[in-house]
Amino acid sequence: MTAVTPVQAGAQSKSDPRRSSPRESVTRGRGDSPRHVFLMCPPEYFTVAYIINPWMHGNLRRIDNVVAKQQWRALYDVITDHAVVRLVMAQPGSPDMVFTANAGLVKGNKFIVSRFRYPERQYEEPYFADWFMDRGFEVSLMPRDVPFEGAGDALFHRGDGTLWMAHGHRSISAAREVIDQRLGADVVTLKLVDDRFYHLDTCFCPLEGGYVMYYPAAFDERSREMIERRVAAERRIAIGEEDALAFACNAVNIDDIVIVNRATDGFVETLAARGFRVLQTPLTEFMKAGGSAKCLTLRLDEP
Ligand code: ARG
Repeated sequence: MTAVTPVQAGAQSKSDPRRSSPRESVTRGRGDSPRHVFLMCPPEYFTVAYIINPWMHGNLRRIDNVVAKQQWRALYDVITDHAVVRLVMAQPGSPDMVFTANAGLVKGNKFIVSRFRYPERQYEEPYFADWFMDRGFEVSLMPRDVPFEGAGDALFHRGDGTLWMAHGHRSISAAREVIDQRLGADVVTLKLVDDRFYHLDTCFCPLEGGYVMYYPAAFDERSREMIERRVAAERRIAIGEEDALAFACNAVNIDDIVIVNRATDGFVETLAARGFRVLQTPLTEFMKAGGSAKCLTLRLDEP
C-alpha cells in the first residue's frame, strides 16, 4: 500500500489481546454513542480483468487506477467521519477483493465465508476466512456446492432479526437453510430477475428505523409481495430507474447518514423527509466493475 495506509482502526499490534474480540472494535465516538465498524480493502489491484456481470462489459482493463484510488480514499474519509474502518490487505490476482461486502456474512461473533459462484472470485475466500479467524470470529465455510455471496446477497433488516436473502444470480436458495441453521436468523428469500441487479445490495437497502429502499422491478412478483407484506407502506421507499442505475440502493447507512455514489434531487428529498442526510461521493471507476459504496464495505457489528 502506498497512498492508502491510514489505518486508524485495525492498527492494533499482534500482541494486543483486544484484537481477538470483534465486539471490542466498537469504540465510543462523539456523544458517547456506539460507533459502527466497517471492513474495507484498498484498491491496490483493482481492475476489470474478467466479465462476470453486465456492468463489466466494455470495461476490460479500462479502470483508471489513480482515479479509483482517489474515489476509494474519499469514500474511506467520509465513512471514517462517522464510523470505524478496518482494512484487509488486497491480494494480487483478486481484483474484485475491494468489494468486501462479498467476503461473507457476519452476525455477532459468527462469520460465514462466501462461496463465490465464479472461480475468478473464489481466490478471495481463504484471505477473508483468514482475516476473520485471526480476529477471533467463529468462522465457517459454505458447502462447496452452495454458492452464496455474503452481504452482497444477505442484508439484515434494521429493527428486528429478519435477514433478507436473494437468489437468482449469484447465491442459490439452498444457502437459506445453512444460514438459518448456523445463525438462527429469520431468513426471507427474494428472487432477483434483472441481471443488472445481480446482487441484493444493488437494488435493496435496509435503513435505520426499519425503512427499506428498493427498486421493485429488480424482483419477481412474489418477492415484491413479500416485501410489501413484511414492511409497512410508510417504511418502504421505492426508487426509480435513474437512481437504481446510479446504484443509489448500494448505500452505506450509518445512523442518519446515507452515503451513495450519486442520487437525484428527488431521492435526496425523499430521504430527507424521513430524517436521512444523503452524502454523495463519486465511485464511477467501481461502477465499471458493477459495484458502488455499499459493495466496498462490510459492516462488522451486526447484532
Ligand atoms: N465485479 C464484482 C462481481 O461481479 C462486483 C461485486 C459488487 N459487489 C456487490 N456486493 N454488489 O462480483
